[in-house]
Amino acid sequence: MAIFMIVLICFLCLVCICSALLRWNEVRYRKKGLPPGTMGWPVFGETTEFLKQGPNFMKNQRARYGSFFKSHILGCPTVVSMDPEVNRYILMNEAKGLVPGYPQSMLDILGKCNIAAVHGSTHKDGADFVRGYPFSLREGVPTAVSHGLWLNIPDYDAPTQLVKPLERNTRFVDAVMTIPKGTLFPMCGMNLAFDRDLIGPAMYFGLMGDGQPIGRYDDMWAGWCTKVITDHLGLGVKTGLPYIYHSKASNPFVNLRKEYKGIFWQEEIIPFFQSAVLPKDCTTVQACYIELSKQVKENLSKVDPYFDKLADAMVTWIEAWDELNPNGPGSKLANGKSK
Ligand SMILES: *[C@@H]1O[C@H](CO)[C@@H](O)[C@H](O)[C@H]1NC(C)=O
Repeated sequence: MAIFMIVLICFLCLVCICSALLRWNEVRYRKKGLPPGTMGWPVFGETTEFLKQGPNFMKNQRARYGSFFKSHILGCPTVVSMDPEVNRYILMNEAKGLVPGYPQSMLDILGKCNIAAVHGSTHKDGADFVRGYPFSLREGVPTAVSHGLWLNIPDYDAPTQLVKPLERNTRFVDAVMTIPKGTLFPMCGMNLAFDRDLIGPAMYFGLMGDGQPIGRYDDMWAGWCTKVITDHLGLGVKTGLPYIYHSKASNPFVNLRKEYKGIFWQEEIIPFFQSAVLPKDCTTVQACYIELSKQVKENLSKVDPYFDKLADAMVTWIEAWDELNPNGPGSKLANGKSK
């Protein structure tokens, strides 16, 4: 009986301490004008829930408190906005007192010079170049594509996935690099941003996946086409920061079925893109893309009749693009919305 009482008292104490600790943050950050939400434990806040559930944590909180709520994550009190209008306002007003950045805990991981932490003069035009950098190249070229990398589950093809099931990428490289002119790269659509006005019409991921002989090559195909065109038009492609954390492993056997033909074909596709030359009179992305489709038809149809269809689809894509964008690429349409 005595033991039972001790256990009960301990248990009650624990409950009291826990609820006191849980109140701690709520009281500490109770200020007027803050949106609803929970603050979690002292110091840790709701970081564990956030890291465990990721986007679901945000969705659950939104369901409970609306698209504007407070929390305590990654070591600091946080107001989360899932309201597109508010987010737009914040991002558009970067220069007017709102400074973007990560919490200190993220800075410790990502480094002080990560792309999101560096703002103002460091990224402005007119930054200084090291000795030996040709003056004729200091102007640089506009960036058409920004290809971010990722940590954790690597982006392998199915055969590599099968032999290295446990491999994880833990190495964060605090750098952004320009992919050199004349060099192709395996573009991944997972963490990608592109300038719709500069390169939009070349971002065709199409005719792959269900009902087609090949899948999982959609983004790489778009990347090869894009790189040939950006090189021709004097536009830049960058890769490196910002990273994302990739945690959804795909099934290597399903992937193998999708990739099977691509794995053979890529031995011919890549030399094709490496030697593709666009004529000087192709001065728009659309003209370049149509020209590329002709070369695909002429040179890759012998690899497989599928490329004949793909070349036609590339033309259809440009026709559709021009129909939806009668005043030039991207004009009047807000951020990818098609009317
Ligand atoms: C396509 O084939 C033609 C004729 O065989 C060849 O001259 C040209 O270099 C090829 N183009 C590419 C991009 O491989």
